[in-house]
Amino acid sequence: MLRIGTQKIENWLVMAPMAGITNLPFRLMVRGLGAGLVTTEMVSAMGLKMRQKKTLEYLRSVPDERPLAVQIFGSVPSVMALAADMAVEAGADIIDINMGCPVKKVTGTGAGASLLRDLDKIKEIVSAVRTACTVPLTVKIRAGWSPEKPVALEVARLAEDYGADAVTLHPRFATQGYGGRADWSLIGEVKERAGIPVLGNGDIIHPSDALEMKKRTGCDGVMIGRAATRNPWIFKQILQMDKGEPVREPDLSERRALIMEHYGYISQYMGEHRAVFYMRGLLIRYTKGLAGSCLFREKITKIRDRASLVSTMDDYFHQMGAIEKGRRA
Ligand SMILES: Cc1cc2nc3c(=O)[nH]c(=O)nc-3n(C[C@H](O)[C@H](O)[C@H](O)COP(=O)(O)O)c2cc1C
Repeated sequence: MLRIGTQKIENWLVMAPMAGITNLPFRLMVRGLGAGLVTTEMVSAMGLKMRQKKTLEYLRSVPDERPLAVQIFGSVPSVMALAADMAVEAGADIIDINMGCPVKKVTGTGAGASLLRDLDKIKEIVSAVRTACTVPLTVKIRAGWSPEKPVALEVARLAEDYGADAVTLHPRFATQGYGGRADWSLIGEVKERAGIPVLGNGDIIHPSDALEMKKRTGCDGVMIGRAATRNPWIFKQILQMDKGEPVREPDLSERRALIMEHYGYISQYMGEHRAVFYMRGLLIRYTKGLAGSCLFREKITKIRDRASLVSTMDDYFHQMGAIEKGRRA
């Protein structure tokens, strides 16, 4: 179990906030597959203040996905405080502050990873949000803005001093984007000095990587991003491995069932029409690297409604079943 402030989380695995991905249907699915905590995609504090319709939609949540962390980004302490309050009102169990996004649109406003260049602003934001919200508060940081000035240790300390209940570290610099490798040793250094839980993040690809990160760094929890978008089963697989059980790859019928479950959530929460088009992208992700997936991709682009989705999938999985049978024979 992982404890963040007053919030108890049933295991040590957290789904990373991911813009365009960790929407309500995706969160519901990975909670069902073993993620102990899920996080919204980053939500603009200013967008909430302005009551923009699309931004407010990001706050939509349902009891089945809880506990839920809502991640907010911004650079104005009072606006961040207001946004946190709105998120709690909408059902957030944890507020997470984004201090790691390297995208220009965000850093250009002084938000995201740009905060790592302005430690006074970090103090103001963390204390303003701490004062405004009644739920546990976490911060998600990178190693720093650029290798010339690593600040993770300092920022983790500041966040703790100003009231954060946990810190997540993705140990790359903002200038690196997603290049190079995440420097897990920095997670260990932050953990050694911190009095609050530390979540490690970055480059978990296989289930064994999560156990390895925990062992090497002593971190309290592991946050998983990109790997879960291709293999949402990774949470279950890590938990199996942690218990010393054999790790199972999902079979074809489980893959199909999961895709349909995801589709079900998407059509429930986004509407049938949007769901079919949204599914096209997801199907490409979920079948990447599988036999016959190139041809399947071509067919995916022709899917226009639920009936063609189901029949294209059935054809593909039938074909895959035959290939597997052939392999076993
Ligand atoms: C498509 C995409 C969207 C992301 N969106 C967010 C976001 O909204 N907030 C955030 O803090 N990090 C975001 N990240 C970073 C991830 O949360 C995570 O820190 C990063 O992917 C490293 O973890 P991984 O190696 O397990 O993927 C995003 C990453 C990707 C690839």
